[in-house]
Amino acid sequence: MKRIHLFEWEDQSWFPVVFRNLLTDNLRYVGSKWPIFDQALPIVEKGMSKSNTDQVIDLCSGGSGPWLEFLNTGFSASVKLTDKFPNLSAVGLVAEKGKGQITYIKESVDATDVPEKMQGIRTLFMSFHHFKPDMAKAILQDAVNKNTAIAIFESTQRNTFNLLLSLPMIFLMTFICTPLVKPLTISRLFWTYIIPVIPLVIAWDGWVSHLRTYSPEDLNELVDSIEHVDYIWEIGKKSVPVPGSAMTYLLGYPRNQKS
Ligand SMILES: C[S@@+](CC[C@H](N)C(=O)[O-])C[C@H]1O[C@@H](n2cnc3c(N)ncnc32)[C@H](O)[C@@H]1O
Repeated sequence: MKRIHLFEWEDQSWFPVVFRNLLTDNLRYVGSKWPIFDQALPIVEKGMSKSNTDQVIDLCSGGSGPWLEFLNTGFSASVKLTDKFPNLSAVGLVAEKGKGQITYIKESVDATDVPEKMQGIRTLFMSFHHFKPDMAKAILQDAVNKNTAIAIFESTQRNTFNLLLSLPMIFLMTFICTPLVKPLTISRLFWTYIIPVIPLVIAWDGWVSHLRTYSPEDLNELVDSIEHVDYIWEIGKKSVPVPGSAMTYLLGYPRNQKS
């Protein structure tokens, strides 16, 4: 199945902040409470060890993704959360719970041009599919130009099952799971159960995310098309115990990192 890059609400700069934040909170719940990224941490740790860093610069962090959960497993590095449209209330809350190990940048950080002073392995969870091939290459090229490691993880995948079934499944799951999403505000309940904007937006964006996801073959093509000398790329896909999901990953790091 070919990659199709349809419209996502979340990509629109005019998309109301209230909906964007409710949506990224939902994604944090899925990314941290569902077993979709259970196999991600050893890959991040390998990238950190290969690039001699104990810092993570998380890009496109949204509501923070799975980081708090990772910390609970004993992950000891510092994590900096960043986003082009930061969800400050969510990352603020997570930073508080992260007790100094998680910090966040209030200003907008574009994943295609990360400030050089932000040193550490770059990570992207559930967000690489937001970028068309030119931008996706720019993200990889920026990491290479600044000689940093990068680890990308997706839980969506292109296949017939998701093409046919993921839209109604995600819609239904949003109704069922919303009481478990923090913070459980009046606004969340209103925009889910009274006027179901959030389930509709999540179902649409989730379905489109499946169709946009880069397969391991696509990721290999992307890294082949960027300029890099002596970078190692590890690309693969691991099954996860959630219907329709799989963890596709890309890890890139300089072959000979100076300490
Ligand atoms: C699917 S959401 C975030 C998912 C989050 N990493 C998680 O695991 O829950 C994608 C995020 O990418 C951000 N984003 C979109 N374009 C971006 C860009 N060019 N640079 C940085 N962030 C961007 C959006 O604001 C949004 O928060």
